[in-house]
Amino acid sequence: MRLDKFICKSTELTRTEAKKLLKMGKVTVNDIVIKDPSTQVHENNDICVEGEELTARSSRYIILHKPVDTICSNVDEIYPSVLHLVEVDRVFDMHIAGRLDADTTGLVLITDDGRWSHNIISPKKQCEKVYRVWLRDPLKTDTEQKFIHGVQLQGEEGLTRPAKLKQVNEKEVLLTITEGKYHQVKRMFAAVGNKVVGLHREQVGAIKLADLPLGQWRYLTTEEVSLFS
Ligand code: URA
Repeated sequence: MRLDKFICKSTELTRTEAKKLLKMGKVTVNDIVIKDPSTQVHENNDICVEGEELTARSSRYIILHKPVDTICSNVDEIYPSVLHLVEVDRVFDMHIAGRLDADTTGLVLITDDGRWSHNIISPKKQCEKVYRVWLRDPLKTDTEQKFIHGVQLQGEEGLTRPAKLKQVNEKEVLLTITEGKYHQVKRMFAAVGNKVVGLHREQVGAIKLADLPLGQWRYLTTEEVSLFS
Protein backbone atom coordinates (compact mmCIF):
# COMPACT_ATOMS: atom_id res chain seq x y z
CA MET A 1 0.00 0.00 0.00
CA ARG A 2 1.14 3.58 -0.65
CA LEU A 3 2.62 5.30 2.39
CA ASP A 4 0.18 8.26 2.25
CA LYS A 5 -2.74 5.81 2.10
CA PHE A 6 -1.37 3.87 5.07
CA ILE A 7 -1.17 7.09 7.08
CA CYS A 8 -4.81 7.93 6.25
CA LYS A 9 -5.85 4.38 7.09
CA SER A 10 -4.29 4.52 10.51
CA THR A 11 -5.06 8.13 11.55
CA GLU A 12 -7.83 10.68 11.06
CA LEU A 13 -5.62 12.60 8.60
CA THR A 14 -6.69 13.38 5.05
CA ARG A 15 -4.47 12.47 2.09
CA THR A 16 -3.42 16.14 1.74
CA GLU A 17 -2.49 16.37 5.43
CA ALA A 18 -0.52 13.11 5.19
CA LYS A 19 1.41 14.40 2.17
CA LYS A 20 2.22 17.63 4.02
CA LEU A 21 3.69 15.70 6.97
CA LEU A 22 5.71 13.56 4.55
CA LYS A 23 7.10 16.65 2.84
CA MET A 24 8.08 18.08 6.24
CA GLY A 25 10.13 14.92 6.94
CA LYS A 26 7.94 13.89 9.89
CA VAL A 27 7.40 10.31 8.72
CA THR A 28 9.81 7.41 9.19
CA VAL A 29 9.64 3.89 7.83
CA ASN A 30 11.89 1.49 9.74
CA ASP A 31 13.69 4.53 11.24
CA ILE A 32 14.42 6.15 7.86
CA VAL A 33 12.79 9.48 6.95
CA ILE A 34 10.65 8.99 3.85
CA LYS A 35 9.19 11.92 1.91
CA ASP A 36 7.77 10.18 -1.16
CA PRO A 37 4.01 9.54 -0.60
CA SER A 38 3.97 6.79 -3.24
CA THR A 39 6.52 4.63 -1.34
CA GLN A 40 5.09 1.13 -0.97
CA VAL A 41 4.81 -0.04 2.63
CA HIS A 42 3.53 -3.11 4.43
CA GLU A 43 1.78 -3.43 7.77
CA ASN A 44 4.89 -5.21 9.12
CA ASN A 45 6.96 -2.04 8.55
CA ASP A 46 7.59 0.20 11.54
CA ILE A 47 5.87 3.41 10.41
CA CYS A 48 5.98 6.49 12.66
CA VAL A 49 4.56 9.99 12.38
CA GLU A 50 6.40 12.48 14.60
CA GLY A 51 7.88 9.51 16.46
CA GLU A 52 4.54 7.84 17.16
CA GLU A 53 4.04 4.37 15.73
CA LEU A 54 0.99 3.84 13.53
CA THR A 55 -1.19 0.76 13.40
CA ALA A 56 -3.53 0.40 10.42
CA ARG A 57 -7.24 0.06 11.17
CA SER A 58 -8.48 -3.33 10.11
CA SER A 59 -10.13 -3.53 6.70
CA ARG A 60 -13.89 -3.50 6.29
CA TYR A 61 -16.01 -5.63 3.96
CA ILE A 62 -19.63 -4.79 3.24
CA ILE A 63 -22.44 -6.19 1.08
CA LEU A 64 -25.21 -3.85 -0.05
CA HIS A 65 -28.50 -4.40 -1.88
CA LYS A 66 -28.34 -1.58 -4.43
CA PRO A 67 -31.58 0.15 -5.42
CA VAL A 68 -32.15 1.79 -8.84
CA ASP A 69 -31.22 5.45 -9.31
CA THR A 70 -27.99 5.14 -7.31
CA ILE A 71 -24.50 4.85 -8.77
CA CYS A 72 -21.45 2.76 -7.98
CA SER A 73 -19.01 5.64 -7.78
CA ASN A 74 -17.40 7.56 -4.92
CA VAL A 75 -18.65 10.80 -6.46
CA ASP A 76 -22.32 11.73 -6.88
CA GLU A 77 -23.34 12.41 -10.47
CA ILE A 78 -26.93 12.54 -11.82
CA TYR A 79 -27.74 10.02 -9.09
CA PRO A 80 -26.24 9.75 -5.59
CA SER A 81 -23.51 7.26 -4.77
CA VAL A 82 -24.56 3.99 -3.11
CA LEU A 83 -22.04 4.86 -0.39
CA HIS A 84 -24.63 7.23 1.12
CA LEU A 85 -26.64 4.14 2.08
CA VAL A 86 -23.84 2.75 4.27
CA GLU A 87 -23.69 4.41 7.69
CA VAL A 88 -20.08 3.70 8.67
CA ASP A 89 -17.19 6.01 9.50
CA ARG A 90 -15.21 7.36 6.53
CA VAL A 91 -17.31 5.40 4.06
CA PHE A 92 -16.06 7.56 1.19
CA ASP A 93 -12.54 6.19 1.85
CA MET A 94 -13.92 2.80 0.78
CA HIS A 95 -14.41 1.66 -2.81
CA ILE A 96 -16.84 -0.50 -4.76
CA ALA A 97 -15.64 -3.85 -6.09
CA GLY A 98 -17.39 -4.08 -9.46
CA ARG A 99 -19.90 -1.56 -10.66
CA LEU A 100 -23.59 -1.86 -11.50
CA ASP A 101 -25.45 0.54 -13.78
CA ALA A 102 -27.78 3.16 -12.25
CA ASP A 103 -30.83 1.14 -13.35
CA THR A 104 -29.47 -2.22 -12.10
CA THR A 105 -30.31 -3.53 -8.63
CA GLY A 106 -28.59 -6.12 -6.50
CA LEU A 107 -25.37 -7.20 -4.89
CA VAL A 108 -22.61 -4.63 -4.44
CA LEU A 109 -19.42 -5.25 -2.47
CA ILE A 110 -17.70 -2.35 -0.71
CA THR A 111 -14.30 -2.43 0.97
CA ASP A 112 -11.14 -0.52 1.76
CA ASP A 113 -8.94 -3.55 0.99
CA GLY A 114 -7.60 -3.08 -2.54
CA ARG A 115 -5.96 -6.49 -2.66
CA TRP A 116 -9.27 -8.16 -1.81
CA SER A 117 -11.29 -6.22 -4.40
CA HIS A 118 -8.61 -6.99 -7.01
CA ASN A 119 -9.48 -10.68 -6.62
CA ILE A 120 -13.05 -9.81 -7.61
CA ILE A 121 -12.55 -7.32 -10.41
CA SER A 122 -9.35 -8.42 -12.11
CA PRO A 123 -10.28 -9.99 -15.49
CA LYS A 124 -7.54 -12.58 -14.84
CA LYS A 125 -9.42 -13.96 -11.81
CA GLN A 126 -12.55 -14.70 -13.89
CA CYS A 127 -14.83 -14.29 -10.87
CA GLU A 128 -18.38 -15.51 -11.59
CA LYS A 129 -21.24 -13.01 -11.36
CA VAL A 130 -24.85 -14.19 -11.51
CA TYR A 131 -27.52 -11.84 -12.92
CA ARG A 132 -31.28 -12.23 -13.07
CA VAL A 133 -32.29 -10.70 -16.39
CA TRP A 134 -35.75 -9.66 -17.61
CA LEU A 135 -36.04 -9.45 -21.40
CA ARG A 136 -38.22 -7.47 -23.79
CA ASP A 137 -38.67 -10.44 -26.17
CA PRO A 138 -39.00 -14.17 -25.48
CA LEU A 139 -35.61 -15.91 -25.21
CA LYS A 140 -34.56 -17.39 -28.55
CA THR A 141 -33.67 -21.07 -28.55
CA ASP A 142 -30.13 -20.47 -29.85
CA THR A 143 -29.12 -17.81 -27.27
CA GLU A 144 -27.77 -20.32 -24.73
CA GLN A 145 -25.42 -21.85 -27.31
CA LYS A 146 -24.36 -18.43 -28.59
CA PHE A 147 -23.45 -17.33 -25.06
CA ILE A 148 -21.50 -20.56 -24.43
CA HIS A 149 -19.42 -19.93 -27.56
CA GLY A 150 -19.16 -16.17 -26.99
CA VAL A 151 -20.72 -13.23 -28.81
CA GLN A 152 -19.16 -10.20 -30.45
CA LEU A 153 -19.84 -7.00 -28.54
CA GLN A 154 -19.73 -3.78 -30.52
CA GLY A 155 -16.38 -2.05 -30.20
CA GLU A 156 -14.66 -5.00 -28.45
CA GLU A 157 -11.88 -7.21 -29.73
CA GLY A 158 -12.69 -10.91 -29.62
CA LEU A 159 -15.72 -12.74 -28.30
CA THR A 160 -17.15 -12.70 -24.78
CA ARG A 161 -15.95 -15.48 -22.49
CA PRO A 162 -18.23 -18.54 -22.18
CA ALA A 163 -21.35 -17.60 -20.20
CA LYS A 164 -24.00 -19.86 -18.65
CA LEU A 165 -27.66 -19.21 -19.27
CA LYS A 166 -30.55 -20.77 -17.32
CA GLN A 167 -34.08 -19.99 -18.44
CA VAL A 168 -36.58 -19.12 -15.68
CA ASN A 169 -39.51 -18.35 -17.95
CA GLU A 170 -40.12 -17.02 -21.48
CA LYS A 171 -38.67 -13.59 -20.69
CA GLU A 172 -36.59 -14.20 -17.57
CA VAL A 173 -33.17 -15.84 -17.28
CA LEU A 174 -30.22 -16.29 -14.93
CA LEU A 175 -26.93 -15.43 -16.61
CA THR A 176 -23.49 -16.24 -15.19
CA ILE A 177 -20.54 -14.32 -16.62
CA THR A 178 -16.87 -14.16 -15.65
CA GLU A 179 -16.10 -10.74 -17.12
CA GLY A 180 -17.17 -7.22 -16.25
CA LYS A 181 -17.10 -5.23 -19.47
CA TYR A 182 -19.04 -1.95 -19.65
CA HIS A 183 -22.81 -2.74 -19.83
CA GLN A 184 -21.80 -6.33 -20.53
CA VAL A 185 -25.14 -8.08 -19.93
CA LYS A 186 -27.15 -5.48 -21.84
CA ARG A 187 -24.70 -5.61 -24.74
CA MET A 188 -24.70 -9.43 -24.82
CA PHE A 189 -28.47 -9.51 -25.25
CA ALA A 190 -28.31 -6.68 -27.79
CA ALA A 191 -25.80 -8.84 -29.73
CA VAL A 192 -28.46 -11.57 -30.07
CA GLY A 193 -31.26 -9.17 -31.04
CA ASN A 194 -32.98 -8.89 -27.66
CA LYS A 195 -33.14 -6.14 -25.04
CA VAL A 196 -32.66 -6.16 -21.26
CA VAL A 197 -35.57 -4.43 -19.51
CA GLY A 198 -34.56 -5.31 -15.94
CA LEU A 199 -31.29 -6.42 -14.37
CA HIS A 200 -30.44 -7.64 -10.87
CA ARG A 201 -27.15 -9.10 -9.56
CA GLU A 202 -27.75 -12.03 -7.22
CA GLN A 203 -24.30 -13.44 -6.63
CA VAL A 204 -20.58 -12.66 -6.88
CA GLY A 205 -18.35 -15.73 -6.55
CA ALA A 206 -19.99 -17.70 -3.73
CA ILE A 207 -21.33 -14.56 -2.00
CA LYS A 208 -25.12 -14.36 -2.31
CA LEU A 209 -27.43 -11.40 -1.81
CA ALA A 210 -30.08 -13.79 -0.41
CA ASP A 211 -32.76 -11.96 1.59
CA LEU A 212 -30.87 -8.73 2.33
CA PRO A 213 -33.62 -6.08 1.88
CA LEU A 214 -33.37 -3.46 -0.88
CA GLY A 215 -31.23 -0.51 0.21
CA GLN A 216 -29.84 -2.37 3.25
CA TRP A 217 -26.27 -3.46 3.99
CA ARG A 218 -24.36 -5.72 6.39
CA TYR A 219 -20.76 -6.63 7.10
CA LEU A 220 -19.59 -9.78 5.33
CA THR A 221 -18.86 -12.76 7.57
CA THR A 222 -15.26 -13.91 8.06
CA GLU A 223 -16.06 -16.89 5.87
CA GLU A 224 -17.36 -14.68 3.05
CA VAL A 225 -14.30 -12.42 3.27
CA SER A 226 -11.99 -15.43 3.09
CA LEU A 227 -13.47 -16.39 -0.31
CA PHE A 228 -11.48 -13.58 -1.94
CA SER A 229 -8.49 -13.31 0.44
N1 URA B 1 -24.07 -5.69 -17.12
C1 URA B 1 -24.81 -4.61 -17.44
O1 URA B 1 -25.18 -4.41 -18.59
N2 URA B 1 -25.15 -3.75 -16.46
C2 URA B 1 -24.80 -3.95 -15.16
O2 URA B 1 -25.17 -3.15 -14.29
C3 URA B 1 -24.04 -5.08 -14.84
C4 URA B 1 -23.69 -5.93 -15.85
